[in-house]
Amino acid sequence: MDPVAILLFILPAYFANAVPVVLGGGVPIDLRRNFIDGRRMFGDGKTIQGLFAGMVAAFLVGAIMAHVIPGTQYEFFPNRLAYVISGILLGVGTMAGDLLGSFVKRRMDIEQGSSTVLLDELSFLLVALLFSLLLKPEILTLEAAAFLLVVTYFVHKGANIVANKLGLKKVPW
Ligand code: CTP
Ligand code: MG
Repeated sequence: MDPVAILLFILPAYFANAVPVVLGGGVPIDLRRNFIDGRRMFGDGKTIQGLFAGMVAAFLVGAIMAHVIPGTQYEFFPNRLAYVISGILLGVGTMAGDLLGSFVKRRMDIEQGSSTVLLDELSFLLVALLFSLLLKPEILTLEAAAFLLVVTYFVHKGANIVANKLGLKKVPW
């Protein structure tokens, strides 16, 4: 598959991951409750508002792609509905993966907001890709998945540095 098409394919997940930084906040998903190990389930960085904002953003990106991509050389689904469904799946998968990442961080006693190796950059992508397999497994070749892992790592790092400089994030990761 064309690298541009692969990046378009993952675009809803990138939006789902980025939008909560701006539109998130308020009541945490774990309602400030602890897990059985006495530490927070997810922590204050995972909010209900952010969760919904991320999922809606991915859905909207999918819906826009459904109107823009068909008929161009980057087409990767046979019909418009598939782009919308893909946006929804990537949105839900992204938020689930991001939550899983925070869950793992808390179990390892890593403070909310501090950085980890790989988990911050890739947990959302891995689960999003798993969810996207439900729609059209053949899109995700080993090559495409490897490409996305590497590109996403650097896009995430770069985006967070920019978000920090713009004052959207307190820390550059
Ligand atoms: N955010 C949110 N709701 C979510 C995900 C993110 O409100 N479901 C917002 C929070 O303000 C969060 C910010 O986006 O602080 C950055 O997200 P992220 O880096 O994923 O969370 P951290 O605060 O670093 O927390 P953690 O250590 O659990 O990753
Ligand atoms: Mg973080």
